[in-house]
Amino acid sequence: MRRVAKDTKARVTLTLNGQTTSGEAESRMLLTDFLRHEIGLTGTHVGCEHGVCGCCTVLIDGVAARSCLTLAHAVEGRAVETVESLAGPGGKLNPLQESLRDHHALQCGFCTPGILMSFTDFLRRNPDPTVDEVKDVLGGHICRCTGYQGLIDAMMDAAKRIRQEKAA
Ligand code: FES
Ligand code: FES
Repeated sequence: MRRVAKDTKARVTLTLNGQTTSGEAESRMLLTDFLRHEIGLTGTHVGCEHGVCGCCTVLIDGVAARSCLTLAHAVEGRAVETVESLAGPGGKLNPLQESLRDHHALQCGFCTPGILMSFTDFLRRNPDPTVDEVKDVLGGHICRCTGYQGLIDAMMDAAKRIRQEKAA
């Protein structure tokens, strides 16, 4: 009888939301599962698991990435930011989160963590975007509730709020 090698776990150590963090992961464990099941951060959602819907998006070394297409061991020694990093002390929403709320840009909220993380990356690099640029970023996300116009309005408003905050 052919023997199948057992996949053993090994430690992954990373900087997660600014804190050195480690956990155990099998060699083929996805980053999404590592964050949710090993670390216990469930803000990162899992939808298609095929890189299509965008709801699992996190930042790896500051760049938006699908955590369902990333192995946990691939982030060894790297910096990962999840949606849990966005709110300030006491759960104070940041300007991007406030804009989504104010423009009614979420309903069930399933897509929201991924959209927030994609736009966090985008607005850091592009503080004064055009509507077409915002639409391009949203092209990587599926929302089954909002119809997208609220999201576009929220992103344009968030960019303005962040610029005003920086200028103050
Ligand atoms: S769950 Fe990762 S892109 Fe859909
Ligand atoms: S708010 Fe429900 S899928 Fe986007």
